[in-house]
Formats: sequence, C-alpha cells, structure tokens
Amino acid sequence: MPETIFIGVAWPYANGSLHLGQIAGAYLPPDIFARYHRAAGNRVLMVSGSDQHGTPITVRAEQEGLPPQAIVDRFQAEFVESWKQLGITFDLYTSTGTKNHEQTVHEMFLRLLQKGHIYKGKTLQFFDSQAGRFLPDRYVEGTCPRCGYARARGDQCDNCGSTLDATDLIDPVSRISRTKPELRESEHFFFRQSAFNEPLLQWLSTGKEHWRPHVRNFSLGLVREGLPDRAITRDLEWGVRLPVEDLGEGKRIYVWYEALMGYLSASKEWAQRQGDPEAWRDFWEDPACKSYYFIGKDNIVFHTIIWPAWLMAYGGLNLPYDVPANQYVNFGGGKASTSLGTAPFLPNYINRYEADTIRYYLAAIMPETSDSEFSEEDLVRRNNEELVATWGNLVNRVLSPLARTYGGLVPEPGALKPSDEELIARGDEMLRAVGGHIAACHFRDGLRVAMAYGAEANRYLSEEAPWKAATEGRAEDAARAYYTALCAVEALKVGLYPYLPFSSQELHSMLGHGDTVAEQGWQVRRPKPGAALGKPQPLFRKLELPTNGGGTA
Ligand code: MF3
Ligand code: ZN
Repeated sequence: MPETIFIGVAWPYANGSLHLGQIAGAYLPPDIFARYHRAAGNRVLMVSGSDQHGTPITVRAEQEGLPPQAIVDRFQAEFVESWKQLGITFDLYTSTGTKNHEQTVHEMFLRLLQKGHIYKGKTLQFFDSQAGRFLPDRYVEGTCPRCGYARARGDQCDNCGSTLDATDLIDPVSRISRTKPELRESEHFFFRQSAFNEPLLQWLSTGKEHWRPHVRNFSLGLVREGLPDRAITRDLEWGVRLPVEDLGEGKRIYVWYEALMGYLSASKEWAQRQGDPEAWRDFWEDPACKSYYFIGKDNIVFHTIIWPAWLMAYGGLNLPYDVPANQYVNFGGGKASTSLGTAPFLPNYINRYEADTIRYYLAAIMPETSDSEFSEEDLVRRNNEELVATWGNLVNRVLSPLARTYGGLVPEPGALKPSDEELIARGDEMLRAVGGHIAACHFRDGLRVAMAYGAEANRYLSEEAPWKAATEGRAEDAARAYYTALCAVEALKVGLYPYLPFSSQELHSMLGHGDTVAEQGWQVRRPKPGAALGKPQPLFRKLELPTNGGGTA
C-alpha cells in the first residue's frame, strides 16, 4: 500500500543568501527523504516558500535604503535558482506574499477568533521616542536572559537559540537610535496557548518514540514549564493585514504565526495549480497521511508546540507526525548566521563545486544528533577519497573494460558462484537498509550503509581481478565477475540516488537506460546480458585543496 506523506520545510527569511548550515539542517534532508519516498512509490507533497514578512525583512530593507518588496524579490529569485542548482525538488516553493496565503491566514484567524482561542488585550511594548515608533522584535537588542549573550534580539537569541519576547531582554537598546526604549501601551491579539498546555503534554508524551530525543525532550521541557499566551500581532506595517479592524492602523499579524500557516496555504496553492483544488485535503485531513517538518533547532518550539496548538485550536487537520530537527553546523568554531554575515553562503559554493559533491559532504556531516563541523578541506578530501576513489572508481572499474573489450554490451555471465550471488543479494539488502534509514530520517546512516556496499563491491573486484582472468584466458570468469560487479553498480545507483541525484542519473544513462532513476523506483534492475551500455564518463572529478579560506563570506 503506497503511503501518503506531507513534507513541510522551514520557510527561509528572504533577507539574505542561504548558507550551508541551513542547507545541511533543513533543505537537503527533506529532499533526500522526498526522493526516496517518490522512488518507493509513495505519494509525496513537499512544500515551502520564502518567509517575506516581519522585522528580519524590514531591518535589512532599512539598512539598504530599499523598500521591503525589493529585498524579498531579490532573494526569492536567488532561492529558486539555488533549489534548481542543488536539486532540491519542492512540489511547490512559493512565498508568504501571495493572495492565497493571506486568505488562508484570514480564514484560520477568524475561525480561532470565533471559537474564543484568540482574544484582544493590552500590552506594554518598547517604543523609541526619538524615532517616534514602536520597536517590535528585532528592533530591540539586549542581553539574553537565558545565556547572557550581549547581542540577543527581541525575537530570539542567536547564541542559545531561545525564543524571546523583546521585554525579556536585559539592558534593551533601540536598534534605530541606540537609546534605551520606553514602554508604551499597545493593543494586540493573543492566542490562548495556555489552554493547550494539557493537550500538548498529552500529545508530546504519547507515541513519540520515533522523535529525535533532543526534539522531544526540549519540547516536553517547555510544556512542563507552562505555556504563556502569546501576542500574535505586531506594531508594524510590513506583514499580513488583520482580517478585522478592531486594532486600527499600523498592525500586522506576527510573522511567525502567519509563516506557519504557510504550510497549509502552500498545500492549497499546489492543489489549485494541479487543477484539483481539493487535493490538499489528502495531506491534511486523512489521518493516514504522515506529516514531517524539516527544520533547524532554532525553529523547534514553533513546530512542536505553537503550530500543533494552533492546529488543535483550529480542528480537523493533521498534527505533525515527526519534526526531525537538526542541530547546527559550525564553521571554524562558530555558528553560521545570515544576520551576522558569518556564513559560508551557498552561492559561493554552488558555483565552484558540483551539486552532488556539496550534497554528499553535507549529508555526511548532517548534524542529526549533535552539532557538526564544516571545513572546505574536509569537503575536498571526502570528495576525493570517497566519491572519486570509492564510488566513481567502482563505476569506472566496471564500465571502462565493458566499453573497451565487450563492445559496450552487458556480458553473458554464465553460472554464478555463491560469492557472486552473495554480492548481488547484499545489494538488495543494502537498498532495503538505506530505504529504512532514510524513512526513519537517519540520513547519515543511510549514506554510510550505501558507501560501505561500494567498498564491498570494490573488494569483490580486487579479489576476482577479472582483468587478470581475461589475460589468463579465463574469459568466463572475467565475464561473470564483471557482470556481478555491474549488478552492484546498478544497486548502488539507486541507493545513492536520493543523496546524489545528478550523478546517479548520469550513471543511469551510461548504463543504457532511457528513463529516469526515479521512474525505475526503489529496486535493483538486473542487467540483461547482451543489452547495450552507454558511453562511460568519469562520475566525479578529483579536486585540489583550497589554498586560502575558500568561500567563506
Ligand atoms: N523564517 C524562519 C527562519 O528562517 C522559519 C520559518 S518556518 C515557518 O528561521 F514554518 F514558520 F514558516
Ligand atoms: Zn541566549
């Protein structure tokens, strides 16, 4: 029975280039996951879009002296190009700037208001009297009350990842005038999150054994502390308007709440574009559909607490099945950050390295259970030692002799020996194991198992030494060993496809197939003796070590 799988991917702020930490954390994992599930014949919907609103965008726009829309347009175009170059296959990558998104947000807001889950209240907000304006979120900086970091912002601390309210900051300063802001009364809408404390505790404590322990423990910890009600509107002019006029001018919905609703609005937009406007329901209303949300750890609270609470309040839609959040990738000892400008930005790398080299390395160091460390030297080394010397070499050791001395045809193997049968059977096993790891969101394990099979096939070839058999007049042994190794190449082509889609597809053509690896599906295609192979080409290039710091910032 095919499964139905919804994949929500964190919506990146359209305020700066993507960096490799974000790719390893939130964008590559869902693509590996989606490619596997599609190949396995499951029904997948993978959506995301650019997060276009809020102070992350307006702060950047003010720094550049441009309207927010100009910033948003620039990075939306850059992100879409990045997905194409890196092979990240969203079913829809949209933005929070669409009419459809606004409608979806309004509809949800009104239902919650009508059910009494949203209420109006007065709060004290920071106000810059020199600038004459309120200071929502990132317009205030100060010391983090949790970790003591001196440059925490009103919405979050970049150092410890805590979600903050601006009024939590110690020694707050206005980012506009650098003066100490005063508190002024302002009216806002609140989400009655406190009412969902018990249901969330129940939900998080039941059947979550498949969640990553750090995600489950962190979420449970927050719910056990007790959830405050939170303001879901801001004193700001850039964002989704409110569907009611109660608060007057100058208020917008808080960017986090409307961006989360993007998962639903993007699904509806996808359905409309399919010409089947109700198709989103299969992914949201059918309890058999499993919803996965791929994010970095600074987004956990929003996806394991706030969004589920909102969905509970709304009713009738699936809660997350899993939120496989990643930890951080460090770069030379520090955490990458777009706003701090201290990151290896993707555009600097994608122009210098093959997409599959970047994908391979980021999958190998994916920070699934703890922070990991990126270095360009390590990327080059692993490209050379693993992609070139193990996988590319295996392909070359099989396809070159077949092109040279077998007329580019699959050889007739004759009777296989038990060791041949074993390598072939281990290929099927490898594929099952890799699929199992990917489905469980253990992406590093899947890659490790696949590459171990590549090493095994190389050892098999060295032991059989078919080139020697051929010169010693044992033509049958040579044909049998080349055929067996070709079966291993066929298996590994599929096993590595979710990680290395570009080179797997090239190899697929070199193996003489006219369709795509995805169409072949998650199974090994046994080569047919006498079938024509394509022209062999090296799959990967050996790279030089970078002489300087490489592509950082
Ligand atoms: N824009 C946020 C960030 O970059 C992520 C938003 S995810 C969403 O951290 F679900 F809320 F959209
Ligand atoms: Zn902190």
